[in-house]
Amino acid sequence: MQKILVVDDAEMNRELLREILETDYEVEMAGNGEQALQKLRECQDETAALLLDLHMPDVDGFDVITCMRENGWMDDIPVLIISGENAVEVENRCFELGVADFIHKPFVDSIVKNRVRNTIELFNCKNQLEKKIERQSAALKKQEQIIRIQAEQLSTAEAFSRLMMEYRSAIMEVETRLKVLNAVFSEQYKRNPFESIKSRLKKPESIYKKLVRKDLPVTIENIKECIADVAGLRVICSFPDDIYRLAELLLKQDDIILLKEKDYIRTPKTNGYRSLHLILSVPVFLPDEKKYVKAEVQFRTIAMDFWASLEHKLKYKKDIDNTEEIEKQLKACADSIEALDYQMQEIRDKIDRKK
Ligand code: GTP
Ligand code: MG
Repeated sequence: MQKILVVDDAEMNRELLREILETDYEVEMAGNGEQALQKLRECQDETAALLLDLHMPDVDGFDVITCMRENGWMDDIPVLIISGENAVEVENRCFELGVADFIHKPFVDSIVKNRVRNTIELFNCKNQLEKKIERQSAALKKQEQIIRIQAEQLSTAEAFSRLMMEYRSAIMEVETRLKVLNAVFSEQYKRNPFESIKSRLKKPESIYKKLVRKDLPVTIENIKECIADVAGLRVICSFPDDIYRLAELLLKQDDIILLKEKDYIRTPKTNGYRSLHLILSVPVFLPDEKKYVKAEVQFRTIAMDFWASLEHKLKYKKDIDNTEEIEKQLKACADSIEALDYQMQEIRDKIDRKK
């Protein structure tokens, strides 16, 4: 039988509640708040519910609740107030303090029984749910740890370093082809189609995080299949038309395969982001084989790159208050930059025609 603690300074009330509840519960009793707290200290774990009178001399019902809250016992034991108090504000205050139910005197047997039973059942359900969630979170944490360990093992594994070497080679391959195009182009048009190339190999931790985000196990196969930007290049051009000319020349090369094109210049992202993204498959010549490796090349103008690096900072800053205002300003800047890019291009064309 579950144990219930009835706290009331009037003996008649205590006896009445004992009679109502003793067929279903083991009923413990306390004649004042002090005694109640003492009993809770002794057998807090076995107590299934506390029926508590509000008005008692010295330590009253509110004092008991305050002490229970301080000790964190309200999370373990549901408190039902038994009181003749009819003032709504008193009842509301009790609920605000976390009591589970409020039973008005005089008692009606069946109502007391039902409300006590329901409260205990609800509380048990809530506790079981909380425990289940706790267990699940612990399991999830463990899984995350396993994945992290896997990722660490992966980064030291031979197959992983070989794969990274292939991606590094792909970066070199694309970089060389772009540099050759730059040289030929500058010979022909007396200017360079791009200002600079930046490249980076995705870090093992970022690779691992991306796979986890996609809900995929961290394996060599999944890196190859599902991540397109392990080898990443950024080509910074002076003018928008150089971007398309350069991309076209690169794609003309018969051993470069275009896997995907995302043209955020013609169709910018809603935040104002503009760039041309090409996901390529490029041949890498290894000692004993020719392998195709994925690489992501982003083409931007200087102005677009300036914008993207500032906007990128906003994404990673969590503690900025007026992000909405900044987002609006960034969008306005992106629009100005677009206009500026094309104006500069027009001026360049006029100068070129005069030559
Ligand atoms: P990722 O998982 O981030 O690679 O995105 P995705 O695979 O959906 O491709 P997407 O074309 O959206 O983005 C590829 C890369 O472009 C990103 O990793 C960034 O480097 C860059 N990028 C895309 N959108 C934005 C943007 O809104 N702002 C900035 N600053 N960079 C962006
Ligand atoms: Mg990316």
